[in-house]
Amino acid sequence: MLNGKNILLAITGGIAAYKTPDLVRALKKDGADVTCVLSQSGAKFVSELALQSVSGNRVYTDLFSLSAEHEMGHISLARACDLVIVAPATAATMAKMAQGIADNLVTTLLLATTKPILLAPAMNWAMWENPATQENVKTLSGRGAHMIGPVVGELACGEEGMGRMADIEDIVSAAESTLELSGPLKGLHATVTSGPTHEPIDPVRYIANRSSGKQGHAIAGALAGLGASVTLISGPTNMDAPEGVKLVNVTTADEMMAAVNSCGQTDIFVGAAAVSDWRTVDTEKQKIKKQGPGTVPELKLMQNPDILKTVATIGISGGISGGLSNSARPMLVIGFAAETENLVENARRKLAAKGCDWILANDVSNETDTFGGNNNQVHLITRSGVEEWPRMNKRELAQKLAQRIADAFLSNSGHASAGNVS
Ligand code: CTP
Repeated sequence: MLNGKNILLAITGGIAAYKTPDLVRALKKDGADVTCVLSQSGAKFVSELALQSVSGNRVYTDLFSLSAEHEMGHISLARACDLVIVAPATAATMAKMAQGIADNLVTTLLLATTKPILLAPAMNWAMWENPATQENVKTLSGRGAHMIGPVVGELACGEEGMGRMADIEDIVSAAESTLELSGPLKGLHATVTSGPTHEPIDPVRYIANRSSGKQGHAIAGALAGLGASVTLISGPTNMDAPEGVKLVNVTTADEMMAAVNSCGQTDIFVGAAAVSDWRTVDTEKQKIKKQGPGTVPELKLMQNPDILKTVATIGISGGISGGLSNSARPMLVIGFAAETENLVENARRKLAAKGCDWILANDVSNETDTFGGNNNQVHLITRSGVEEWPRMNKRELAQKLAQRIADAFLSNSGHASAGNVS
């Protein structure tokens, strides 16, 4: 999750500072590059050398050693990261932050940074409960700082209470979710359908479309990676839910439609599921038995709901009991067009017929390995043009699409009709 992320870890003066080499190790194990900044009082509990050894990076300890701005000034240090973690965050450091005081390297960096900040407070329980500290925590949270802990336990002073620094694993997960919350799609809700639907004929047989769910699941993960809160509604697949995504399992198209309508307010809808177009009028309660040579059962089929078209033209009803009068159309509705011939022409027609904003046309004819394979090749069709994307891994494609979605929202100052952006 933290792959490729640069984390600045500021260590202030609490006994919990002795745990920070373990925190550095855990963050690195999760893929992050960690640079430590050690306050003077933090240095009483953990050594610069230990932090340098585990992080593999220089440890910054003194504001004045940074005065040579050509090397790494405090402003550059504060900005050359994706996230600042303060662990342990003492009452004094939080009080200074709340007041905007910059009187040492750590507080100066905290004032200068434009990056998300995650605080892991640790102190005596009475200091934590003191209204002054609580007021500061409120102020800092109100300004967007993220908090993890403290937790209840035995404290350094021998007393029990709320004040222990959160566990290392919890700080790492909080770092992951802080970064998710801080991506370009922060504050937006995406609903993604994925996988096939199975329409039962009898207890052992069903009608289905071919789909592994690889592409839809990857799109859900990529959107979450850019900070969207994501609901993934999936038909039966062998795939695990990507990190940070809420998974809703369904079997039939009807269930998928109901799950979409239960998602509530949605800004981005991606219909990647291979929804079965038909289901049987009646599902047999018992297994249909063969009736002898040459006799085949006649299946009476009926149309399933067109989920993409419903979302694009009517909207999402906002809860099972929401009713259509409460429906709201997501700002950006994206579908797929699985075609075996006349790819672009058929997909263009589908874009218009379904009323969606973008459609990803993919050739699923037999000679491609799109179904079940790891690669995909698509044309992105919007109302204003067609782009042929090169063949690529489904994960890469998901990331390219998620970035494209983020660009569309950003270029519309976040939110106006992203669908008009090609
Ligand atoms: N779709 C849907 N509900 C359906 C059928 C399709 O939401 N009942 C969505 C798919 O998730 C996809 C898009 O519509 O995003 C196009 O699906 P596709 O199978 O390519 O086309 P169909 O609509 O089924 O049309 P046709 O079978 O005629 O090609």
